[in-house]
Amino acid sequence: MKKKLTLCLAVLVCSAVEAEDVRQLAPLPAAAAESLRDQMRANLLTLNEIISLTVSGKLAEAGVLAEQELGNTAMGKNRKLPFEARPGPHMPPAMHAIAMDGHKAASAFALIAATGDREKTLDSLPTLTTSCVSCHFAYRIR
Ligand code: HEC
Repeated sequence: MKKKLTLCLAVLVCSAVEAEDVRQLAPLPAAAAESLRDQMRANLLTLNEIISLTVSGKLAEAGVLAEQELGNTAMGKNRKLPFEARPGPHMPPAMHAIAMDGHKAASAFALIAATGDREKTLDSLPTLTTSCVSCHFAYRIR
């Protein structure tokens, strides 16, 4: 019994150490945080659609979606929002740079998909998630 309890405590302590959050806090105004979350859910949906379209050989559609929803074309979307609701300008510059890299990567993917080369398009799919992972690993907003 005592051995079991010690083991349980050890596991608890270890998981507490592991769970330490080392991401940098980037506080955003409430409205900006809300639009960020909305856009993030849309990003995930778009990503899933792009992967499905690519795998099923609908490369042109995958490319258009990548450009419109994730690429440089998608960047201007927030400009019509009130300043407080725009996530970009409130991000630390390094975080914002990751977001810009994500837009660039999606536009580059769109160009590759537009060539109709299935092999190359499949090969470049992982470039779409690099910025998602980099940012989520480095930053939190709460
Ligand atoms: C520049 C930074 C950055 C990039 C790039 C980024 N995210 Fe996020 N994302 C965040 C932050 C910060 C949160 C946490 C929001 C919170 O704490 O509620 C988040 C949250 C999310 C959520 C949860 C939304 C919710 O309702 O809580 C999803 C899903 C998500 N991101 C998907 C993605 C995908 C997919 C990509 C890439 C296509 C991506 N993100 C790229 C910063 C980023």
